[in-house]
This record gives sequence, structure tokens and C-alpha cells, in this order.
Amino acid sequence: MVRVTNLVKTYQDGRARIPAASGVSFEVPAGRFFTLLGPSGCGKTTTLRSIAGLEKPDDGEIELDGVLVFSRHRGVHVPPNLRGIGMVFQSYAIWPHMSVFDNVAFPLRVGRGRVPRREIPDRVRRALATVRLSGLEGRPATKLSGGQQQRLALARALVREPKVLLLDEPMSNLDAKLREQMRLELRALQRHLGITTIYVTHDQAEALAMSNLVALMHEGRIVQIGTPREIYERPVNRFVTDFIGSTNLVPGRVAGPVGDALYQVETAAGPLVCAIRGGAAAGGEVIVSVRPEDVSIHERQRPDGAWEATVEQVVYLGECVDCRLTAGDVPLRVRAHPSIRVWRGDRVFLAFHPERCIAMRPDGGPPEDAPKWTSRDASEGQAPR
Ligand SMILES: Nc1ncnc2c1ncn2[C@@H]1O[C@H](COP(=O)(O)OP(=O)(O)O)[C@@H](O)[C@H]1O
Ligand SMILES: [Mg+2]
Repeated sequence: MVRVTNLVKTYQDGRARIPAASGVSFEVPAGRFFTLLGPSGCGKTTTLRSIAGLEKPDDGEIELDGVLVFSRHRGVHVPPNLRGIGMVFQSYAIWPHMSVFDNVAFPLRVGRGRVPRREIPDRVRRALATVRLSGLEGRPATKLSGGQQQRLALARALVREPKVLLLDEPMSNLDAKLREQMRLELRALQRHLGITTIYVTHDQAEALAMSNLVALMHEGRIVQIGTPREIYERPVNRFVTDFIGSTNLVPGRVAGPVGDALYQVETAAGPLVCAIRGGAAAGGEVIVSVRPEDVSIHERQRPDGAWEATVEQVVYLGECVDCRLTAGDVPLRVRAHPSIRVWRGDRVFLAFHPERCIAMRPDGGPPEDAPKWTSRDASEGQAPR
């Protein structure tokens, strides 16, 4: 398990103080794949490098596999090579002048990670087999394809059999197709090894596809932690909903409760029944988030509570039809099934599913509202594998 508690790191840039991590806390249950996701500059790398011991935080505690490796309060700062971690960076930092074998053997030959000479060939071969590079031991590292170099970096990170694997945007140098393939490969390998992994990316699709748990970061803080499904379907605020996938944001005002955690919201396009986390008072302003795939278009009959809308644009994408519409003055985007036949200028009806209409405070709501994933949940077997 990895536990990060109230991690604070501020950089000094000339006169300016740059708060890179401002109280980051999370737990990664043993063997799980955990992703720090967020826009560039939000503090992902700082957090990961602090866990690795490459940065010394200003405050907080870090525990790896039951061992306290950093605590400002208790004056603990274990050096990186004694933390039992393997790490792969964005630029995999492969040594171009070395063979594949020597690249992987390097961590076994230096410093305190050194192992007896005769053990090295076996361990290197095992690490290379794990990433399916067997047989390429003698090849110069530069004579590998992009995907192979990425796997070589992974073999080097795994050769000392670390308890925790840290990956910082390891695929950003690969082309889109290879990246998608490596996603599956890396995840299968991680699952096979059962190694606790923290993955850093700014790519939301990657985060959703690979992770057991995602922590979304914004300006040095974690805004929400949850399973990919929770993050996508139950965003806690506007930042999350905007960052993950695409969505329609409709301003409105709460009219009153209509059921269990459901509220009637008045909007410029018509009334809408919405879910509101933590409840809401009548008269309060909200922003309603509705995903394009959660709206259904009806050509003839008007379902209960449906809005009338005009089709502005239709783009056929094969797997779906991307429709732009307006309801009242409100622009909306809808992803419809390809069987739908609508044309520009058509009048149609739009139906919504209350659970899929998420109303949030316009200011975004405080991050403290974010539910925390606890190890208790994990031990009850609720964290998906
Ligand atoms: N060595 C440094 N000196 C000064 N500022 C830094 C340094 N490293 C990172 N920062 C700043 O800290 C913030 C967080 O950076 P980083 O952790 O690299 O974000 P991310 O990995 O999410 O893109 C950014 O504003 C960045 O410019
Ligand atoms: Mg980074």
C-alpha cells in the first residue's frame, strides 16, 4: 500500500513562490493501479517525484508498503534507492551507448542496489522476458522501436523487483496507435505482477481505460478520487465534469425537491429533474452537466418532461451521430445512435435521465466535498480489479 498524507511542496523561482502540491492526500491499496490525472502544471510530477524521494517535500508524510519513507514532522527522508520503487519517466532515459542487456543490468551493478555478479544474467533475462524483449539482449538500445524502448525502460524499472512502480507519462513519446496498444499491455503486465502502481497522465482516456482508481488533480490539490466510472458519472464539480469527457453545461435554478436526492431545476430551455450531491435549497443557482450520450432524441412523440429543440447540425461519424441542437437559447450536443434520421432544421424532442443530469454549484463546490477512497472500502472488495 502507498499512503500519502498532506503532501506540501512549494518551489522557489527567483522571488516567486510556486505552490506545486498543496496538501495532497491519497491511499493506493496494494496491487492496484492508481492514476494521478490532471492538466499540465497541476502537480502530478511533483507528487510522484516526492514519493520516489527525488524531491523533498515541505510537509506531509509518505508511507510505502508499511514503511515511513518521508515525514517532515519526524525528520524522516529515506533516499530514493532505498525506497523499493521502480520508476519510468516521460523520456525513458535509456542509455543509448549501452546494449539492451546493460541497460537493464545497470541498476543491479551500482550503488546500494548492487547484487552478486553471477545473479545478474538471470535477473536481467527474467525482466526482459516479463516485457517480451527476450532475445534482444545484445542489441544496441537505440536499435529498438519506440514501443520496444518503452518496454526496455519498464524492464529496467522492474529488474530490482520493486514493491511500487511509478510511471510518469511513460507513453507520451509513442504515436496514438501504439499508445493504445501499450495501455493494454502495461495494464496486463501490472495485473500479472500484482505490483502497486502509480501512473501519471494528462490524458483522461488513458486514465479511464487503465485505472482501478483515478485521482483528479487541479492546482496542486486532489479534487476527486474514485473509480473511472464514478469520476465520469458522478463528477463532484465543474472542473471534473469539464476535464473528463465532453459535456453540456446548462445554467439553472433549483425549484424544489421531487424525490430521493432529485430536484426540479428551471433552465432557459425548460424544467429538468436532476441529481444534486449533498442536496440543495430552493432558489439556489446551479450548473447542470449532461453528457452528450445521455440525451435521447425523439423524432415524433414527446416523452414526459422532454424539451423541444431544433437541430442545427448533424455529423455522421459511423459509430454515432453527433448532433448540435438548440433548446430555447441553450446550445446542446447529443451523441445519437447511427440509426437516427434527423436533418438540419428539424424540430425534435430531447429526453433526459434524472440520474444522469448532475447539478452542481456554479462556483464548483469546495474540494472538501470530494469523497475519499479508504482502505476499508478496498478491504471490503469494492475496488475493482
Ligand atoms: N524545479 C522547479 N522549479 C520551479 N517550479 C517548478 C519546478 N518543478 C515544477 N515547478 C512548477 O510546479 C508546478 C507543478 O509542476 P509539475 O508537478 O511538474 O506539474 P505536472 O506534472 O502536473 O505538469 C508548475 O507550476 C511547475 O511550473
Ligand atoms: Mg509532469
